[in-house]
Amino acid sequence: MSKAVQIRQYGGPEQMEFVDVEVGQPGPGEIRIRHRAAGLNFIDVYQRTGLYKNPLPLSLGMEGAGIVEAVGEGVTHLKAGDRAAYASHPPGSYCEVRVMPAKNVCKLPDAISFETGAAMMLKGLTAQYLLKRTLPQGGLQEGDFVLFHAAAGGVGLIAVQWAKALGLQLIGTAGSDEKCALAKSLGAAHMINYAKEDFQARVKDITGGKGVKVVYDSVGKDTWEKSLDCLAPFGLMATFGNSSGPVPPFAPAVLANKGSLYVTRQTLFTHIATREANQQMADDLFDAVTSGKVDIRIDQRFPLERVRDAHEALEARRTTGCTILTL
Ligand SMILES: NC(=O)c1ccc[n+]([C@@H]2O[C@H](COP(=O)([O-])OP(=O)(O)OC[C@H]3O[C@@H](n4cnc5c(N)ncnc54)[C@H](OP(=O)(O)O)[C@@H]3O)[C@@H](O)[C@H]2O)c1
Repeated sequence: MSKAVQIRQYGGPEQMEFVDVEVGQPGPGEIRIRHRAAGLNFIDVYQRTGLYKNPLPLSLGMEGAGIVEAVGEGVTHLKAGDRAAYASHPPGSYCEVRVMPAKNVCKLPDAISFETGAAMMLKGLTAQYLLKRTLPQGGLQEGDFVLFHAAAGGVGLIAVQWAKALGLQLIGTAGSDEKCALAKSLGAAHMINYAKEDFQARVKDITGGKGVKVVYDSVGKDTWEKSLDCLAPFGLMATFGNSSGPVPPFAPAVLANKGSLYVTRQTLFTHIATREANQQMADDLFDAVTSGKVDIRIDQRFPLERVRDAHEALEARRTTGCTILTL
């Protein structure tokens, strides 16, 4: 048996309940993992509210780290006793122990703690694919300007540090002066408090009127329109989230008028669709973390029983960096 956090219907944090679930043996291609920590992500909010639909009742959580207890037939990259971490479908990491597909579970290097592993897999692999696999025409070169919204958040603070290591000039946005100062201290070339400054005008100033090559936008509805106006001709709008609500439908002709822009809407789960791709990206992330290029900041820790408080804090924009649920 395991304690697990489930919802029976979509809604607010109060819908999350602790239930006892039975945990069986792993079948072919599966493992059983005992968690030491689970990561909190904004996708958990979308799954809780029903913005992203899953069958109900639904166990929540897409990220975790722990010890592999058993492996099913055909699993060769893991064995009982291994330390491991993952970002993976289906949801269900907010629990003590679970059976799950092995494909996206990676061995965790000894130098990386369980808490760090739980905090970084979904957010770090996202920063990896955004900065290294979601590129504008001609790619990104040292010195290029990119705009990254919500730069003091979980994905944001990882991207800030990694962009600096890649030699990019990351212009970040965040909702308070304190958040701006934090992202600046970790390597953002410029920070804009978009709660009180017009980020489009500031981007224009900073880039001498040229605009940026890529906008990485997870805020969605509130930033979409102005973000398009921050792009240089042929620039890439990489929209990858809906923290303020989904981007409304738009007419493609808008992209022509604003400078022959590209738009892409990607999800991590396409990038990690094969075990080989997942492992390659994870190795790159592990290297970035163990070499010290990227520090995984865990700024909030909540015991699993306080998961409702954790969701409230994330949705109310009271968090910075990563948040984990401890077991
Ligand atoms: N497509 C993918 O593959 C993928 C993968 C991972 C994450 N994501 C997306 O990336 C984003 C970041 O994820 P995360 O887990 O690291 O979360 P996070 O960035 O730590 O938290 C979200 C942040 O968004 C900002 N925000 C702006 N408007 C908001 C609003 N109305 N309500 C709440 N927050 C608002 C807040 O920062 P400020 O106060 O500074 O504005 C808030 O702290 C999310 O949108 C998530 O869905 C996408």
